Amino acid sequence: MKTLLVGYKAADLFERGKHGRQKTAKWLDGDVTCHTLDIYHRHAIEKTHHIKAVCSAHLPDGPWDVIKFRTGPKIMSGELSLDMLQEIHLLRPGKFELDFIGKERDRNDLLAKIKDDPGRVRDFKAVWPASVPGGGKLMFTSTPGCFCHRRLDEGGLALAEVISRDSAQAGSASLKLLDMGCGCGLVGFLVKSVVKDIGLVMVDSHSRAVEAANINAANFKMNAEVILADAGTPARMDGTFDIFAGNPPYYSDYRIAEVFLETAVRALKPGGVAYTVVKNEAGLKPVQERYFPSVEVIRRRGYSVLKSVKN
Ligand SMILES: C[S@@+](CC[C@H](N)C(=O)[O-])C[C@H]1O[C@@H](n2cnc3c(N)ncnc32)[C@H](O)[C@@H]1O
Repeated sequence: MKTLLVGYKAADLFERGKHGRQKTAKWLDGDVTCHTLDIYHRHAIEKTHHIKAVCSAHLPDGPWDVIKFRTGPKIMSGELSLDMLQEIHLLRPGKFELDFIGKERDRNDLLAKIKDDPGRVRDFKAVWPASVPGGGKLMFTSTPGCFCHRRLDEGGLALAEVISRDSAQAGSASLKLLDMGCGCGLVGFLVKSVVKDIGLVMVDSHSRAVEAANINAANFKMNAEVILADAGTPARMDGTFDIFAGNPPYYSDYRIAEVFLETAVRALKPGGVAYTVVKNEAGLKPVQERYFPSVEVIRRRGYSVLKSVKN
């Protein structure tokens, strides 16, 4: 019996008994795999649940006897829910269970969207424009789950504007930029639209961000090494970057911002410059000061870009 667990905290659907033995829920007997979109979650599942976990932008091929999907309006965007449900439907599992956290009416609405037209495959990709002064208009592609989907992030745009202006002014040849938490690659590609010979490395923990960044690299004909990782760049890249760009998520206080800053310190050359962006610098500035000797605040688009030079 091959079972695939999908969606929000889906690994919790695999329970173990007191003595570490799998509970006897019939549908979970046998070979269980948990799918994640984020490599951080894959690592967490492997530590805490001791089950097979795969991280990929799309669901792994079957055949699957059972697929169990956990979602709901408060835990997953409607578009991502529908996209995942469509992928499940196309895999044609022997049995499907929806663990919906929310109202019965919303659950039925979601299922009806698939049932209404089972033959129709919707493409959830979006294409939207972004540009910075001195660069042409780029048409970014994004998919549900990737940051940002369908629209650009003003914080990311502010970061790209400051870095492209500084780098164009510096005018030095062959710079290397690390775009950490790249999402669909907004910051790195916009900077490269101005500073043509910049070398790009992009890192994100989300498989759909990596997928979108690779699509955009191909569409823009811009070379970029895109890495799926939750702990920054590999050690072989330490001390090789001139510029670090990070627009980290702030939902876990500054824990993830610290992973970004640790990477910045490690990855930059002496004299290299780190840029981060935040809505209000009061919280992040003291954190960044622990990693760098000083922090300059540049205000743009209602955001603060925090700039530091590595000793
Ligand atoms: C606020 S978004 C910024 C995306 C893009 N740079 C922009 O400005 O539009 C933050 C990104 O960081 C990624 N992320 C979160 N934790 C991460 C980690 N530990 N390592 C790498 N990326 C991470 C998220 O998946 C997300 O794509």
